[in-house]
Amino acid sequence: MRTQPHFLPTWGSPGKVLLLAISIIFLMTACRPPETRWRIGVSQCSNDEWRHKMNHEMMREALFYDGVEVSIRSAVDNSSQQIEHIRRFVEEGVDLLVVSPNEAAAVTPAVEEAYARGIPVVMVDRNILSEQYTAYVGADNYEIGKDVARYIVNRLNGHGRVLEIRGLDGSTPAIDRHRGWMEVIEATPGIECVASVDGGWLQAIAEEKADSLLPLHEDIDIVFSQNDRMALGAYIAARRHGKAEKMLFIGIDALPGEDYGLDLVSDGVLEASFIYPTGGERVIQVAMSILEGKPFKRETMLSTALVDRTNARVLQMQTDHILEQDTKIERLGSLIDEYLLRYSAQRVMLYACLLILALVLALLAIIIRAYWTKNELNRRLFRQKKQLEEQRDQLISLSKQLEEATHAKLVFFTNVSHDFRTPLTLIADPVEQIMDAGGLTEKQQGLLRVVHKNVHVLLRLVNQILDFRKYENGKAELHLTNVDLRARLEDWSQSFRSLAVKKHIRFTFEADGEADFHMPIDVEKMERICFNLLSNAFKFTPENGRIGMTLSAIEGGVRLIVSDTGAGISVEHIRHIFERFYQIDVHHTGSGIGLALVKAFVELHGGTIE
Ligand code: FRU
Repeated sequence: MRTQPHFLPTWGSPGKVLLLAISIIFLMTACRPPETRWRIGVSQCSNDEWRHKMNHEMMREALFYDGVEVSIRSAVDNSSQQIEHIRRFVEEGVDLLVVSPNEAAAVTPAVEEAYARGIPVVMVDRNILSEQYTAYVGADNYEIGKDVARYIVNRLNGHGRVLEIRGLDGSTPAIDRHRGWMEVIEATPGIECVASVDGGWLQAIAEEKADSLLPLHEDIDIVFSQNDRMALGAYIAARRHGKAEKMLFIGIDALPGEDYGLDLVSDGVLEASFIYPTGGERVIQVAMSILEGKPFKRETMLSTALVDRTNARVLQMQTDHILEQDTKIERLGSLIDEYLLRYSAQRVMLYACLLILALVLALLAIIIRAYWTKNELNRRLFRQKKQLEEQRDQLISLSKQLEEATHAKLVFFTNVSHDFRTPLTLIADPVEQIMDAGGLTEKQQGLLRVVHKNVHVLLRLVNQILDFRKYENGKAELHLTNVDLRARLEDWSQSFRSLAVKKHIRFTFEADGEADFHMPIDVEKMERICFNLLSNAFKFTPENGRIGMTLSAIEGGVRLIVSDTGAGISVEHIRHIFERFYQIDVHHTGSGIGLALVKAFVELHGGTIE
């Protein structure tokens, strides 16, 4: 019985183990930081402290959104460079643009192009000369201009001379602040704007312009600069001219930090400033609302406030405090990052451990299953072994029975043979005597020869059985006499001559001419060997066939070959022809004793037969 061993448990098959491993690896990769979902390009016109603050706020705010990448490019007050930056962002396929244009007219086409290509554009602080943008975040510069003018009118009690230093011509805050400012000043007859010059939003330019203007205009009460940086430039120039003490300097931005607006007001360098909020957080909030399809306000107006000697200190303290808090928040942020990193490393470790554990468990299951299968196979083998043993025992008992049956057959044959021999002898003798007496007719003579011949055949058979029994019982003995085997064989073969003639068989006996075949043999047994072999040959050789007997000397003995041209015996049967009672088939009659006896006698002589 063939069995198909099934070593692996179903759930522990290599495929399943692999699937488990892949799932765990998937889980591990699923826990990685999220892919970039949104890319925001920020195009800044300048690279000053106010822009730095705004950039910093945007980057920090972006951290609160998953998968947002903010990249900032600063054109350093160069409109062509800014146009190039915007186009590059568009080519790179950013999802949203944040633009603070250096000069409105120059940058407008680039922004319009981006907008036309479906990229949302958020304008911050400065604007373009078009409506082709998505949202605006910044303060109302026109209102700031008016607020400054009202403050100055108030400060001078409606009478005085003012110098205006504007921001970069062509940038919208400069235009709007100037418009608001002029609207109020023109409506106030006591206030004279002695000059209005372009300071380019830069301290150096403002200083240079103030340098050349101050000697030209006597009794200037206030210098209004559109940002604190330019106000400082004007102040430095005025000090150089010895006029700083007699004038007031006013700016916009009121940035916290050393030597920035708030500081300058607090130190008395500036008379006042107006907070111009950077609003970086709001910019990102609006951008994210746009990207995530949430509602948003197209114009987000950031509020402004006056800073003068009365509130500068408080504001400074507050902004310092806020800065301190900001630093702490940032430190906290980096700590959280660090913890997250550690956490994700630990999580990877954990998953790796789980994976190893799962593999070990799977391996264990496989081993247990294999062990179980092995035991099962052993059990089956054991059962098969038992069955085989039973079959073997049955065979042993069958062969024993066969042996016993054979023994009984032989005992029976022996007894019958014994019983037959005496009567057969008693028949043979009188028959011979009758034949010798003569006086019989030819026909009677012939009939008696048949009787005589068949009695001898029967006697030979009976004797063969008795001899074979003797041999099997170990009682057969050799009676050796030194004779010439060649002469004997010649002699014995003579008795087959007449049969050969009768059956037209060419029968020859040949012996090695040189050799001496004198040797001790049991003559009677050797005659039986010769007789049986030749009888057998004659029995199975058809008419006109050939039978040969050859005697040759070999080392240590002789070889006798009997050959015939009979039908031959198949390989299957030839192995058994010397076994007692063996019969090839029903057509080959015979007792099955003759050849077995030949073999027995040959072996008694110490020879072999095949
Ligand atoms: C910064 C700045 C500010 C000013 C603003 C106007 O780059 O020059 O000082 O208020 O831009 O856009």
